[in-house]
Amino acid sequence: MEEGSKEKKNKKYKGKPKWYGSRQGKGRCSKAQKLAYKEVFPSISINKKYGEVINFREEFQIPDTHPGVCILDIGFGMGDSLISTANMYKDKFILGCEIHRPGLANVCLKVRTLQLKNVRLYGGDAFKFLSRHIAEGCQAFEQIMIFFPDPWKQDVDRRIIRTETINLFLKHMVHCADLFIATDISDYVDYIEKIMQPFIDSGLFRGGRCDRVNFRPVTKYEQIAIDEGREVVDFHYICNNGKKDDAVEIEGDKDAAATTTTTTNNTTSS
Ligand SMILES: C[S@@+](CC[C@H](N)C(=O)[O-])C[C@H]1O[C@@H](n2cnc3c(N)ncnc32)[C@H](O)[C@@H]1O
Repeated sequence: MEEGSKEKKNKKYKGKPKWYGSRQGKGRCSKAQKLAYKEVFPSISINKKYGEVINFREEFQIPDTHPGVCILDIGFGMGDSLISTANMYKDKFILGCEIHRPGLANVCLKVRTLQLKNVRLYGGDAFKFLSRHIAEGCQAFEQIMIFFPDPWKQDVDRRIIRTETINLFLKHMVHCADLFIATDISDYVDYIEKIMQPFIDSGLFRGGRCDRVNFRPVTKYEQIAIDEGREVVDFHYICNNGKKDDAVEIEGDKDAAATTTTTTNNTTSS
């Protein structure tokens, strides 16, 4: 790459992790997707400055009579699960976080075609979104889904499923909210179980592996796994955040230990 364009690229992704640029632009948009992105994205995207929090009722224009919680789809790819959920449950509010521009554009196109009013998008890193733009103690989510998260085999610390993220989920999920995960990467299966175990032991979540969830459409990733003979494993966890301030300590993180508490005697609720 030439020095000038390298500099330009560095400037564009300043402050973002190294992998961000490669995830954002991979793949191409069709003309229709590009147009939909241009015309629809500004009206359905959540665009906040650092530290500015979302008012969910305002964003989704949720009537006062509605309980006001929403479903979060993290890393929705081309948006199959997001769109089918939004289309199936028109009275629910669906928020999608995705970095991948063609995926965001595809959802914009579907939102327009199906005239969906219950979808909002955050075009960026889900971890940043959860840590920067949701008010402390705002129990925003009744369901979180993460289907086929990037495995980052060479650098597992980049995985979206990690203790810090699950602690954030816990802060922002309503009591008894559902967390659905699916992966076809056997090493990620073990990793998810390892990450979730302290939460289970503390009574902050219950659940584990489950049968294939029936609302999850077969996406490209699942089809590749099937074709290549890999097992797809689904997880369903139910959160127990009756004690909102509880969290699981991040291994080796003394600062986190000072600011969070690990409970060992909580009982799970049903
Ligand atoms: C393997 S794809 C799975 C897509 C989709 N869930 C499916 O099942 O087809 C993983 C997606 O997660 C997105 N992603 C990875 N890290 C992310 C992050 N930190 N925040 C938001 N999206 C992320 C990627 O851009 C990619 O589209």
